[in-house]
Amino acid sequence: MKGIVLAGGLGTRLHPLTKVTNKHLLPVYDKPMIYYPIQTLVDAGIDDILIVTGGSNSGDFLTLLGNGKKFGLEHLNYTYQEGHGGIAVALGLARYFAGNEPICVILGDNIVEKSIRPAVDAFRKQGTGAKILLKEVPDPERFGVAELDGDRVVRIIEKPKNPPSRYAVTGIYMYDSRVFDFVDDLKPSGRGELEITDVNNAYIDSGELTWEKLDGYWTDAGTFQSLFRANQLAAGDRPTE
Ligand code: DAU
Repeated sequence: MKGIVLAGGLGTRLHPLTKVTNKHLLPVYDKPMIYYPIQTLVDAGIDDILIVTGGSNSGDFLTLLGNGKKFGLEHLNYTYQEGHGGIAVALGLARYFAGNEPICVILGDNIVEKSIRPAVDAFRKQGTGAKILLKEVPDPERFGVAELDGDRVVRIIEKPKNPPSRYAVTGIYMYDSRVFDFVDDLKPSGRGELEITDVNNAYIDSGELTWEKLDGYWTDAGTFQSLFRANQLAAGDRPTE
């Protein structure tokens, strides 16, 4: 399985912190943010990794990460997203890297406590379709939220005003190579982006989406509050839930 870290976008919710640098280069406790998702992939046994980045600081990723030696890698792949058309646009840029192989995608601002290896291994066995990881959160309206019928995810709603559950869709997604056909068929959402939620809903419609609960803490780091929380968690402060 190949791994993809999505680290494009403008990070405007973190202005002025992101005025002169990319969000994923900001510190989270003792490391740049992007170290965490890369380490998550490496810990899951994925060593062929693409970084999708963008903006005017993209060269800094090369300076920082090089060929990934720090993570025990021999090589890292990079590609550049022009503009900030959405998570699914960034994912679409991974088509040539992925070829026909299954992929594990992680958002560059997602920080997890525990290894995702069991879920990745389960998807290796699953072979086709998609798998997402859900986490119960106190503020589901900030995320893509799963609507459940028994133990089936029947729909994912992006940032719903009235969340159908407390299960946020985390930014860790596993897909077979059909994902790029689904990306091709997407239309921009109300906020003018190609949404990863629409990709996941396409897999639900084709009856091929599985899910698991994510073990341990999880946070994004795209707002001041969540960036602060990410720093606390990375520093070893236990969540209070
Ligand atoms: O963190 C999980 C959530 O991430 C999911 O629950 C949502 O369904 C999903 O839409 C996403 O929500 P956000 O609104 O928090 O996504 P954001 O725009 O902050 O982008 C998250 C990461 O995706 C960002 O750190 C880098 C990457 N990205 C984003 C955009 C818009 C790109 O690489 N390119 C882009 O154009």
